[in-house]
Amino acid sequence: MIIPTETVYGLAANAFDPDAVSKIFFTKGRPANNPLIVHIASIDRLSQVAATPLPSSIERQIDSVSDLWPGPLTVVLPRSAKIPDIVTAGQSTVAIRVPSHPVALKLLARCDFPIAAPSANRSNYVSPTRAAHCEHAFEGGIEMIIDGGECEIGVESTIVSLEENGPRLLRPGGVTAEQLARRFSMSLDQFTRSCDEKHALLEAPGMMPAHYSPRTPIQIYSESSSHLYPPSRIGRILFRPVRTADSIRYAKVETLSSDGNLSDVAKNLFAAIRRMDDAGLDLILIDECEREGVGRAIMDRLDRATSSYPCIGNTQAIGE
Ligand code: TXA
Ligand code: MG
Repeated sequence: MIIPTETVYGLAANAFDPDAVSKIFFTKGRPANNPLIVHIASIDRLSQVAATPLPSSIERQIDSVSDLWPGPLTVVLPRSAKIPDIVTAGQSTVAIRVPSHPVALKLLARCDFPIAAPSANRSNYVSPTRAAHCEHAFEGGIEMIIDGGECEIGVESTIVSLEENGPRLLRPGGVTAEQLARRFSMSLDQFTRSCDEKHALLEAPGMMPAHYSPRTPIQIYSESSSHLYPPSRIGRILFRPVRTADSIRYAKVETLSSDGNLSDVAKNLFAAIRRMDDAGLDLILIDECEREGVGRAIMDRLDRATSSYPCIGNTQAIGE
């Protein structure tokens, strides 16, 4: 079953049932070493999924961020023995969040088990932020999709590992690093430095460099793009309306926000990339933004989406 959340749609299963969870891995084509996030109805149910008792330093970190739930924040904690190995890919920790989408919350409140749910896309493709994105996502189809409308946030949750010697940022997302650093009484620098690339790669295998990739090559737009590309079908994703002075005649243009507001950009980002990807283009050129606030999550996803096409955009690739 596919459920809406405020970040992206999720492919859901009873987290206590290893057979149900194995279907998630099979359906997504997800490697077995990439653990899932489990969703609970409220922080009161933490003991269903996390170890008890937790070390007091970790309890204190949970208290500092608990006002952000329900919301787009995932914490990685020592796991409860009730969580099957398949959910955590055998790791001693489990990723947990309380989503804020009213439909997800209602469903979770009615279930007496937590729900494991990765984003409802084939592994490595762009995450779904509309129910329609999920319809043809999987071969053989899905029995039920609950349509909860457009996802409000549009990028996945922020993942923070809460550890005895302090929190570590594993994935930037809907809750900003600035918000979290403040709650942990850390400087932003100190907190974001905890996003050690190597660690994040090892521990959150879903953070592989090439991820979120459309089939169509996608590149960050730069002033010089217009000089680089010979006539071809190019799509352009703008973060705000601008009159472009460049000489490319775009086959398709999408504008993500009427005023450059990054929350709107995040909300519309994946849907626009998907529409571009379905438009038979040769190339997508997309804006970039400052890596602050939700811009950090936006640029993280774009770094990954564009990393699959490293050659396009340098002069070599266009037929010198
Ligand atoms: O917003 C979201 O988080 C969405 C919605 C559906 O809740 N879910 C989502 O799940 O983005 P997924 O599976 O696409 O991404 C989960 C990420 C992966 O990068 C995975 O490696 C990491 O969480 N993860 C899961 N368990 C972990 C653990 N115990 N330690 C470190 N990373 C973990
Ligand atoms: Mg995903």
